[in-house]
Amino acid sequence: MDEKKLHELLKSLTIKEKIGQLIQLSGEFFDVKTATTGPQKKLGISSETIDLCGSVLNVSGANKTREIQDNHLKKNRIPLMFMSDIVYGFKTIYPIPLGLGATWDPDLIKKDYSNTADEARASGNHVALAPMVDLVRDARWGRVLESTGEDPYLNSQFAGAMVKGLQHDFDKTHGIAACVKHFAAYGAVESGKEYNSVDMSEQKLRQDYLPSYKAAVDAGTKMIMTAFNTLNGVPVTGNQWLLKDILRKEWGFDGVLISDYAAVSELVNHGFVATNREAAESAFDATIDIDMKSPCYANELQPLLESGRIQSERVDEACWRILKLKNDMGLFEDPYRGASNDAEKSQLLTPAKRALARKTADEACVLLKNDGILPLSTEKKVALIGPYSDSQELIGLWAVHGDVEDVVSIQSAFTEKLRDNNLRATPGTSILEEDSDYHGMGLTNEQFKNSLLSAAEKQENNHEVSTLCKWADVIVMPVGEHTVQSGEAGSRSNIELPQEQIKLIHRVAKFKKPIILITISGRPLVLTDIENGVNAILQAWFPGTEGGHAIADIIFGEVNPSGRLSMGFPRAVGQLPQYYSHLSTGRAPETSGHSSRYTSKYNDIKEGPLYPFGFGLSYSHVEYHNLAVNSNTMMKDEQIKVTVDIENKSDVPGIETVQLYIQDVFASVVQPTKELKSFKRVVLTAHEQKKIEFSIFPEMLKFYNSNCQWDVEPGKFNVYIGPNSEDCLKSSFEYV
Ligand code: BGC
Repeated sequence: MDEKKLHELLKSLTIKEKIGQLIQLSGEFFDVKTATTGPQKKLGISSETIDLCGSVLNVSGANKTREIQDNHLKKNRIPLMFMSDIVYGFKTIYPIPLGLGATWDPDLIKKDYSNTADEARASGNHVALAPMVDLVRDARWGRVLESTGEDPYLNSQFAGAMVKGLQHDFDKTHGIAACVKHFAAYGAVESGKEYNSVDMSEQKLRQDYLPSYKAAVDAGTKMIMTAFNTLNGVPVTGNQWLLKDILRKEWGFDGVLISDYAAVSELVNHGFVATNREAAESAFDATIDIDMKSPCYANELQPLLESGRIQSERVDEACWRILKLKNDMGLFEDPYRGASNDAEKSQLLTPAKRALARKTADEACVLLKNDGILPLSTEKKVALIGPYSDSQELIGLWAVHGDVEDVVSIQSAFTEKLRDNNLRATPGTSILEEDSDYHGMGLTNEQFKNSLLSAAEKQENNHEVSTLCKWADVIVMPVGEHTVQSGEAGSRSNIELPQEQIKLIHRVAKFKKPIILITISGRPLVLTDIENGVNAILQAWFPGTEGGHAIADIIFGEVNPSGRLSMGFPRAVGQLPQYYSHLSTGRAPETSGHSSRYTSKYNDIKEGPLYPFGFGLSYSHVEYHNLAVNSNTMMKDEQIKVTVDIENKSDVPGIETVQLYIQDVFASVVQPTKELKSFKRVVLTAHEQKKIEFSIFPEMLKFYNSNCQWDVEPGKFNVYIGPNSEDCLKSSFEYV
């Protein structure tokens, strides 16, 4: 409808109808049988609230959403909006976002998210609660799985691509609304512990943590979700400075702002306000439009209005944003937005979508070690030993709508490549230990028991492991974390592989056959004690529906790995948080004049990560030479060019991700030793040489100064170009 009509509609709504639009409830409230007893009582809301509620959380499927919409429209004038956690795929599941980050290929990821929108839309979803763009530097936090990594620039590239992919210009046939989360700085929760607090300087916040959300706003995201954490003592959900001053005023975000799950009522738990009424007032004053799954807006906004604590114009403003979004989506004309069984049949898990998921997983896997054993010849006798050998649990915790039955396991993909008598497999052990705190991980007693091997199976497995190790030419070991060990509420203080699997690796190593480790995980693991004893390591994350195929593509050399880490792998958990773009200290280990003891380091471990940001091997051998800047000085409003020669010294064509880092050497606020400013994915044929050129602009040299102004200071800048954040060539120039 046109805007005039929409305004008329808004005017004609009762206050209860308006408040209804500001409430979101989850699926169980729309099941007439259980709603009035269970969830409704628990949340303490009336049946009228359910009837008037404006949006639904995590219900999908064309039939189900159409049925709920039909029931709703019998009593309402305004259609419901369906929102769902569609974080890295809907039915066709891509690698977890930390794997997507490792592709360094935002154009590809844009296509993934566009396909995801088509699938989700066919099944009745209007808003994806994605992308999650929180910057992450502490691998103990389980939600690093949902992020594209530790770097502001790289994350911003992905944030923009994901929003554009999902929304797809938001036209009549494509696109659903993106809801960027979790604004802001949720990735910096203290000690990597879920739902914990965040405390940081404004400079760090603006320079490192805010850019990815800003990129999403610039890309046109229709919705933003607030974070659970406090920021410098003030919970984000009631943080006027962050939400009103920065997001709304400074950035001009005029879309819908939604709280995270129950975060409005949790303002009381935080000790920020004393009652649900105060919580509602605080969140509302911070311009949150929708209260997700708490009773605060439902029960408290009307009394707040009547007592004059909040103004009716503000209710109209929040309601307008939601009506506008519904109208922009065309929900008043077609409340199902094209969702139907036929649409599902033509959209979900099509061969073309699977092919894209496979290509994405090919690009997401990162080869961390290879002594030359890879790629494997299909003539070899291969033993697959490890709990992920024939597991379809390759989609990770946040693939809410994906089905494991659709997943290609590693064993089935290997079977396609190898002759039958060349492949044998056994899990070797269960994923988790028998004494795991399964309850804390969210597993039921039964689920946990089913995940373990029985005594008889264990015995049989032990025997199998020995037999297979003697028989095989090479042993491929798919090992990793359990799905429930990462994702939301998946924080861990120990991020090594589960102990039983470490023991299995040691046992297998005794047979002195080459070992290729395939690591499945939702985070960078600590692999320090294992890496020496194996010949190759392929980090495969939770690689998604086509994960098995992608792993086999790389292991047997049909695909030359190109993935590069977007988050470094620590040597030990005690190093966390760890990130490449740290500040210079007064006593860096290499440059300090002090004896080695009195420098900034741990005394019991080698400095730096085991595998740094940007790192990843391929089957090609690429060398970098002749880094050159075309001028030693850069004047205001000018740019300089920097070039480097790269050469593929091998017979294997491949993709090289050439990375440009800059350091502001002296600044009034000390700057990181290196910051990624640009990169290029370069295709190289066998023995090909190329000159790669980057432009450097003053904008790339800016930082937040002590007045929190984004500015550049004159002085020396170092330029680094290389295949990762550590192994770079270096030059420098002056900005005058
Ligand atoms: C998570 C959000 C998610 C929401 C709805 C919360 O617990 O933090 O990322 O979108 O639940 O499922």
